[in-house]
Amino acid sequence: MRSRNISTKENSKLSNSIDKLRVPKHIAIIMDGNGRWAIKKGLPRSFGHNKGVSVLKEIIKASKSLECNVLTVYAFSTENWTRPSKEVDFLINLFEKVLKKEISEIHQESIKISFIGDLSPFPKALKSIINSSESLTKNNKDFTLNICVNYGGRQEIVKAARKIAIKSCSGEINPSDIDEQLFNSELLTSGINDPELLIRTSGEKRISNFLLWQLAYSEIYITDVMWPDFNENEFLKAIIDYQSRDRRFGGIQSLPKDSCKNPNYSS
Ligand code: FPP
Repeated sequence: MRSRNISTKENSKLSNSIDKLRVPKHIAIIMDGNGRWAIKKGLPRSFGHNKGVSVLKEIIKASKSLECNVLTVYAFSTENWTRPSKEVDFLINLFEKVLKKEISEIHQESIKISFIGDLSPFPKALKSIINSSESLTKNNKDFTLNICVNYGGRQEIVKAARKIAIKSCSGEINPSDIDEQLFNSELLTSGINDPELLIRTSGEKRISNFLLWQLAYSEIYITDVMWPDFNENEFLKAIIDYQSRDRRFGGIQSLPKDSCKNPNYSS
């Protein structure tokens, strides 16, 4: 179902401008601006987070229909714990409530849901619904939704380095075995190809500790639109912009326009 505030005329114009063969297969999103959106409307910040959930649902549908089969979204960073406890509690309850409400539809839609991050500090009830959602959907093939919670890119890299150091000290591997591929295999995203595109809403021009390793060669699209106002048309604009990029991966020659992969590094 198309959201009511979307312009259908603009939607068909944008859809027609997309080269369906060159849609990124994996898009990462920093869903920023929920709080500011709400405050600007004189509403509590929680309204922004609630609206953010319906936007995420719309973007999953849009992504699926374009055959962009993997979305990785930043829902809660390791730094978000510093927010007032009322907001942290609200977000934790929201994750639990949304999962409970949506999991059967997510499963019916053949979506595999995975959580990336350190789940240990979360309440039992949330951990339990996360575990059951992941096991229910683990064999779904049409689409993957990775939700980063209590996730930090630096922490992920440090943990991977520690695991490699332990293996090296125990003699399981030689220091000379350590290369990009081995390092990648120790990350929380092991087995997932790097995102070709990062979208950040709300105009902030930083990556805020998100997927530091994985975004090495991703194209970055920043829009001033706040996440609660983001919609299918804005998503299509991001993909059209991506398709205009010249992806050289540090070389001097552009890759063929239909290539989404970094030839220097296969994950
Ligand atoms: C950033 O906006 C957004 C968040 C920290 C939370 C995002 C969470 C959702 C959209 C809910 C997703 C739900 C599930 C189940 C995955 P902000 O609060 O930093 O906004 P601000 O920059 O304006 O303060």
